[in-house]
Amino acid sequence: MFFFFPESRLSRSVIEDAVTAAKATVDNAYEYSRQESIDRVRRNAASPSDVLRLLKQPAGPTRTAVRAADYMDVAVKLLKRSLNRRPKRSINATGDERNNENICLTSLHTLLMREHNRLARALAKTQSSLGGERLYQEARKIMGGYFQVREGDYLLHIVGPDFIAKQLSTYLVMMKTWTPASPNVFATAAYRFAHLMFSLSSFFAPWRIVFEGGVDPILRGLVGRQAKLNTDRLFKFSAELALDLGALNMQRGRDHGLPGYNKWRKFCGLSQPRNLAQLAKVMNNTDLAKNLLNLYGTPDNIDVWLGGVAEPFVRGGRVGPLFACLIATQFQRIRQGDRLWWENEGVFTEAQRESLRETSLARIMCDNTGITEVPDRPFQYRPRGSGYTQCEDIPTF
Ligand code: HEM
Repeated sequence: MFFFFPESRLSRSVIEDAVTAAKATVDNAYEYSRQESIDRVRRNAASPSDVLRLLKQPAGPTRTAVRAADYMDVAVKLLKRSLNRRPKRSINATGDERNNENICLTSLHTLLMREHNRLARALAKTQSSLGGERLYQEARKIMGGYFQVREGDYLLHIVGPDFIAKQLSTYLVMMKTWTPASPNVFATAAYRFAHLMFSLSSFFAPWRIVFEGGVDPILRGLVGRQAKLNTDRLFKFSAELALDLGALNMQRGRDHGLPGYNKWRKFCGLSQPRNLAQLAKVMNNTDLAKNLLNLYGTPDNIDVWLGGVAEPFVRGGRVGPLFACLIATQFQRIRQGDRLWWENEGVFTEAQRESLRETSLARIMCDNTGITEVPDRPFQYRPRGSGYTQCEDIPTF
């Protein structure tokens, strides 16, 4: 039966056996009901209306086939679920299932949750009068500050140093009229740039962390292996679980009524290509420009997600100029439009701000795992054995 899997790890052959069993079940069901229909007619067991129905080819077999297809559909869905989640074993400490979407995400989340608890325990030692709720909230506030202080470490590699210098260097003042909320184009297109950067494995399989060595090996892999280059499968991107995320992004953009590529280029003060030559220049790729024009007719109509991810990267970044502008603009608003931004007056004391400046993902990895050496800048790829920093040499906070 294909809903059962041995407790040991799922091997390729187990998956193949399960699919073969599912197919055989559907084939048998089809053959069985076809044969039964014929037998009923032969035995004269069918009513006159049945006879009419059964003899009206291909209605009978079609109906059976539709039933069989439904059955197959359900069977495959259950099969996928069984493959990715161990039965009766729910592993989700976060309260939001999306955390289990892939094991790297789960590992990072676990790391940061441990850091929160480490801070809460440390606070409890020095300020024993604080109750549980207050300890939790204080640690949470520090973690909020940590995310804000360190987000630039990641963004630097996404939008590149020029956009950081232009829009995200020194914090100036809070802008009371700005909102930090995410606009449609940011959530539905620009910040989905990373949908071309991951490999499709280990989805919704949190049990792998528990059974395959904890978060340490995954975190070691995250810092010690290069990120996938997000150009190699631009137009072939589609996931194993029948999910074509690229198509989903574009469909979502249309659902949300996002204006097309050139409108956003204009918003960012960039040129708006009008013909093949201009588009080829913007994309730095004539074949790509031709394909886009064949599909869309005019650059105005290109879905903004697709146009954005098709652009060549800005210097030192992983997105093109359009997404670099949209992302940098949004993070600028997140900083200057939020009264709770860590650098805004009255949120933290100067001493606390000094401490927050000392924080690092490297230190958090050292404090919350069994890892003893890390690259001091974990977002910058450094292969293992190329001189990682020993944990004792990384400042504590
Ligand atoms: C294994 C990795 C990932 C998978 C499988 C994944 C999948 C998805 C899916 C299915 C959606 C919802 C799509 C829709 O219905 O419109 C989504 C939304 C989104 N994803 Fe990802 N994603 C991944 C990683 C990332 C990363 C690394 C980023 C950014 C750095 C990102 C940014 C976003 C954003 C901004 C949204 C829209 C959220 C919203 O509107 O509330 N995703 N992703």
